[in-house]
Amino acid sequence: MKNKGQSKSLRGKDKKANSGELDNFVPLENKTILLGVAGGIAAYKACDLASALRRAGADVHVVMTPNAKEFVTQLSLTTITRNQAHCEQFGQSDNWRPEHIELAKKADLILIAPATADVIGKLANGICDDLLTTMVIASQAKVMIAPAMNPTMLAHPATQNNLETLENRFRYDIIPPEFGEVACGDIGSGKMASVESIVAAVAARLLAHGTLTGRQVMVTAGGTREPIDPVRFIGNRSSGKMGIAMADALAGRGAEVILVSTVQVNRSYQVIVVETAHDMQEVVESEFDTCDALVMTAAVADFRALRVANHKIKKTESEDLVLEFTKNPDIIDLLGRVKRPDQILIGFAAESEELLNNAAQKLKRKNLDMIVANDITVPDIGFGSDDNAVIILGADGSRENLQRMPKRAIAEHLCDVLEGMFIELEAKTPVV
Ligand code: C5P
Repeated sequence: MKNKGQSKSLRGKDKKANSGELDNFVPLENKTILLGVAGGIAAYKACDLASALRRAGADVHVVMTPNAKEFVTQLSLTTITRNQAHCEQFGQSDNWRPEHIELAKKADLILIAPATADVIGKLANGICDDLLTTMVIASQAKVMIAPAMNPTMLAHPATQNNLETLENRFRYDIIPPEFGEVACGDIGSGKMASVESIVAAVAARLLAHGTLTGRQVMVTAGGTREPIDPVRFIGNRSSGKMGIAMADALAGRGAEVILVSTVQVNRSYQVIVVETAHDMQEVVESEFDTCDALVMTAAVADFRALRVANHKIKKTESEDLVLEFTKNPDIIDLLGRVKRPDQILIGFAAESEELLNNAAQKLKRKNLDMIVANDITVPDIGFGSDDNAVIILGADGSRENLQRMPKRAIAEHLCDVLEGMFIELEAKTPVV
């Protein structure tokens, strides 16, 4: 791969986060951070965290839950951040438009640290019964969550399910808790990440934002459906999750995204819903010219019914049903033949045998710049799952294995690689 930059795994840790250094950070100047403080013992660390964020240049505004006030005072957080800390949902306001709603709208990032099992559960389920949870729902900003709780509470299936729900949403990143002794004396995973780790993760998230600004990237997602008659189709098991995660990650970095998907999703970027391989081909071909890159994660049907019945095929007509199929065009293969040198083509290969061989052949045959291969025989990953494990092969002969991780984390890594490819392409382009 052109960019060997580390994966920004959502569960994994940032390299800078491990270094414990804040000195080299590009200051978070002009960034407004809404710091949510929930009611756990780790709330006492919120003062240090608020101070570190402010020293890194951020304008920090605290919103605390009523329970957080049992552990840390509103006055401390107001003084440290130099901004009034908020807590009351129904407090008095001099302004007809409450200040905290304005704040929710202008925040570049919402950081909840510590995030208790309670707040995580509320956010995963859309409950907003206090100022903090209401503000999160009233805002479209990215949300980073630093859980902190007793290890048994963290391991509870409800907490794990809620974390997973949030992790799979476009807006949320989890800053993983650490292993160690927690306040109640228990030892395990549940200790809030260190202040340095949290500031590093916040900086990485805010600085990554915009690294693909000005790039237009098209992503295809889902499995095409090929009709047999007005009610039936031949389809495949693709859920579209990988493509949607990829489109989300690209949009998060500022790319202008066109998602051509067989699955309907509501996003702030352009989503074009298609059904058949033919529909997908039409859209992709018409948009390709203005794109800097195409990421074809879609499982496009290789065949379609030769004849589509005008009326529903009746089971009374015969004992057997024989359908004839004809080949669909290979969209990425066609584009591989016409792509300009400044365009990047990324294909996916879902294989059930000879993973590396088959993927390498497709990479070459279809004239791709990169192929992402996954073994569909491995249980619980790939089709329909939130996780995947892939091997990335580059046209330059490079190869990289990504172990099982959430699809969004794989998407973030692919974005890192894509950024590196753009930089290399630019270096090769002669300056006129
Ligand atoms: O040859 P195979 O279908 O395994 O290749 C997979 C890659 O080719 C994926 O990126 C897929 O989106 C793309 N493809 C395509 N048109 C097809 C079939 C696959 O663009 N008809």
